[in-house]
Amino acid sequence: MRTGWADTERHDLVPDEQAPHAAARRARLSARFPGERLVIPSGNLKTRSNDDDYPFRPYSGYVHMTGDQARDGALVLEPRADGGHDAYCFQLPRDSRDDDGFWTGATAELWTGRRRTLAESARVLGLPCRDVRTAAEALAAGAAAPGAGSQVPTRIVRGIDPALERAVVTDEERDAELAEALSDLRLVKDAWELGELRKAVDSTVRGFTDAIGDLSGAVATSERWIEGTFFRRARLEGNAVGYGSICAAGDHATIMHWTDNDGPVRPGDLLLFDAGVETRTLYTADVTRTLPVSGTFTPLQRKVYDAVYEAQEAGMAAVKPGAHYRDFHEAAQRHLAARLVEWGFIEGPAERAYALGLQRRFTMAGTGHMLGLDVHDCARARNEAYVDGVLEPGMVLTVEPGLYFQPDDLTVPEEWRGIGVRIEDDLVVTESGHENLSAGLPRSADEVEAWMARVAG
Ligand code: GLY
Ligand code: MN
Ligand code: MN
Repeated sequence: MRTGWADTERHDLVPDEQAPHAAARRARLSARFPGERLVIPSGNLKTRSNDDDYPFRPYSGYVHMTGDQARDGALVLEPRADGGHDAYCFQLPRDSRDDDGFWTGATAELWTGRRRTLAESARVLGLPCRDVRTAAEALAAGAAAPGAGSQVPTRIVRGIDPALERAVVTDEERDAELAEALSDLRLVKDAWELGELRKAVDSTVRGFTDAIGDLSGAVATSERWIEGTFFRRARLEGNAVGYGSICAAGDHATIMHWTDNDGPVRPGDLLLFDAGVETRTLYTADVTRTLPVSGTFTPLQRKVYDAVYEAQEAGMAAVKPGAHYRDFHEAAQRHLAARLVEWGFIEGPAERAYALGLQRRFTMAGTGHMLGLDVHDCARARNEAYVDGVLEPGMVLTVEPGLYFQPDDLTVPEEWRGIGVRIEDDLVVTESGHENLSAGLPRSADEVEAWMARVAG
């Protein structure tokens, strides 16, 4: 079994086009932690049942700092005397054919697909690579809590790779600062990332167009069909979907994170469709359109839709450099509060209702979030840099106001119950304002109806 195998080392591999960008990101991380060793694991497979695993998704901080997606890897920034760092990667190399593990072992690539050799990884990533099976020992030899003797003070991102975590002695609070920094550093996207996000949104636009085609042709009579149609586009053009698609028809549209997608799609209903393609480099879009299944809104559906549309317009107008992150949320929520007062669903005056947050019964969530490698990107960033911060060119965020009238809400007339509308677009902050990356998808009620009529032919 050990003999008779050809040498399949790949000599044709070239450096990943992301490598210089990842190096620049590492330089920014390095500057924040002089004199300290930083360990950023990629993560391990998670068992689904028995010998079946969930699809692997590497930790986004690792992807950002390396451009790599390998499991069981780790980036290490080793401190230098001049305050900078030398970077290297731990990787799980190919199985050696000199060892029976290549046939039977848990990592046996024979069963799951070829990995890269360490030399191949070094070439692709532009980083020296070492065998991850030596990592625990190598890190244990040098790691210590800050200030402890002559050993290298070390931080690790916790919660990603338990075995590596056990190999180092670190301080929980200081480790959390490393995770926070990795989140902070993703707030402003570089030019390469913006290109990937554009690709994600463009594929998403095509996926929505596929889904509308099925809706207009009455091919899609179930939420699952819509989910499947979009998923095919996501797998063909990208890695997958960036989050579970929300295909919510009828009453389901009032459930913010409806991903069961097991209901029917009926003429007369609205379909709230929230989905995003994730590129092969793991950047995701996050777009929502709320569509009248029959192709035209009823007068009441249009009334709700228009209010959400106007709120989104107000929110998007507040997305510009120098604006506070909260401004777009406040602008959209103010508009919705005023409409809800006008309709008699909450007590006015509108400014008082807004100040008390009365609209939240019907608006439910915040109006958006940062977008990037994670759909809710930069979630661990410091408040002062994110939610209490100021918008800068290169930030990418969603603006997604909505109104949701629960089916059992006795405070609204019966015909309003079960209506849910959200409109969500992906914006990049530019030097002069913003660009709506998902502008290729019709958005106003008239545009949506015209679009559906066009697709229906
Ligand atoms: N799709 C999740 C969100 O809109 O935040
Ligand atoms: Mn979103
Ligand atoms: Mn969404």
